[in-house]
Amino acid sequence: MKKVIVLNASPRKNFNTAQVLKEAQKGAQSVGAEVEYIDLFDIDFKGCRSCYACKIKGSKTKGLCAFKDDLRPVLEKILNSNAVIIGTPIYCGDATGVYRNLTERMIFAAIKYLKDEKTGVMQRELNYTIPIGIINTMGATEEQFNRTYLPEMIGMNEFLLKTAFGYCEVLNVFDTSHFTDYSKYDSSIFDGEYKKQVREKQFPKDLKKAFDMGKRLVEMNV
Ligand SMILES: Cc1cc2nc3c(=O)[nH]c(=O)nc-3n(C[C@H](O)[C@H](O)[C@H](O)COP(=O)(O)O)c2cc1C
Repeated sequence: MKKVIVLNASPRKNFNTAQVLKEAQKGAQSVGAEVEYIDLFDIDFKGCRSCYACKIKGSKTKGLCAFKDDLRPVLEKILNSNAVIIGTPIYCGDATGVYRNLTERMIFAAIKYLKDEKTGVMQRELNYTIPIGIINTMGATEEQFNRTYLPEMIGMNEFLLKTAFGYCEVLNVFDTSHFTDYSKYDSSIFDGEYKKQVREKQFPKDLKKAFDMGKRLVEMNV
């Protein structure tokens, strides 16, 4: 049975990112995968410590970050999985800090500082592919998103995970609701009625895209 790890890098356990991730989970389950869903905010961990144990000559880390903390069992599960889906909200123009702490350690241990003579890019530590899906949820509209550096930033996250694990795809969910009832918050820069309509009309389409992503990653022949 194929194993999928779903990682929520949002502090909210049941709003935009979590809801989208849970649909991706259902998509993976619909084609027979066993899914483990993990809220990263429940785990005490930090980013890469720059110990370079994964780069030292003769290193035996084999793609697994050497630092022993509560993230390590999760990183081990990732390396033993058939697909991984990571969801993050966009905070202040970037993925959350927790997303970055995770991916620094996932990516850095899984790439070598050695050039692949054929491709000219860094060699991978793993000799197998783990398809990765990134889901970014954000309050910005697609049009606002395209006016910023976010496409390049997200493209870099995608490129690095693809380099390390062999395959990566991205789903961006735009124009999400910040809260369910805008009238309760000082938030005149947003139109609560418009946001409600987006949530009713567009969000279900994004949930469907996430379901399809979960299914597709499991069905990939790698
Ligand atoms: C601290 C903070 C910073 C945010 N910064 C941005 C931002 O820079 N761009 C954006 O489009 N949305 C931003 N948002 C909105 C969230 O990205 C968006 O509502 C997201 O879908 C929330 O996901 P969640 O429901 O899983 O928490 C921010 C929200 C918070 C709480």
